Amino acid sequence: MRDSIEDVRLKVISCTRCDLCKTRTNAVPGKGSVNAKVMFVGEAPGRTEDQRGEPFVGAAGKKLTLMLEKHGISRDSIYITNVVKCRPPNNRVPSDSERKACMEYLQSEIEIINPKIVCVLGNTASNSILGQSEITKNHGKSIEHDGRIYFLTFHPAATIYNQELWSVMESDIELLSRMLGIDNK
Ligand code: URA
Ligand code: SF4
Repeated sequence: MRDSIEDVRLKVISCTRCDLCKTRTNAVPGKGSVNAKVMFVGEAPGRTEDQRGEPFVGAAGKKLTLMLEKHGISRDSIYITNVVKCRPPNNRVPSDSERKACMEYLQSEIEIINPKIVCVLGNTASNSILGQSEITKNHGKSIEHDGRIYFLTFHPAATIYNQELWSVMESDIELLSRMLGIDNK
């Protein structure tokens, strides 16, 4: 039988497939609704996520949650995860071999949750999943890949000190919300 999301979670929290397991405090499996119509994929856990074992609970996560809720997408209704499930030391970008070692978990999450849209956050995720890293050019676009719809936008961490980017990302999220059929009127 195919893994359940709980099976994937259990595999992730005990995983030793790459060296990031040696420096993590907690592995950070994806979290959210199994009925989610949209799944968000970031880069890797940061310090807060590593301490808590949950994705997007630090500053970037708060930014993202605020933006989503503003456009009718509640945090409870989504599923959220990362390309790699363990924090890279000093938040460095995860290496190709770390991403490759961890990719099976993301693929399982996508298959099990089977969301209508996978929202890819920033260049690392875009590069790992779609093999392209031109988020500045391609944000706000949908790409069909392996029979799924991927929607591209910025990583919320990039908007923390950049109000202009926050506004641009917000219009992407507004479009995403419309694609999901959420009526904000
Ligand atoms: N940034 C990410 O990419 N993922 C997290 O979970 C938190 C911050
Ligand atoms: Fe396993 Fe992924 Fe953590 Fe590496 S980053 S140890 S592959 S869960």
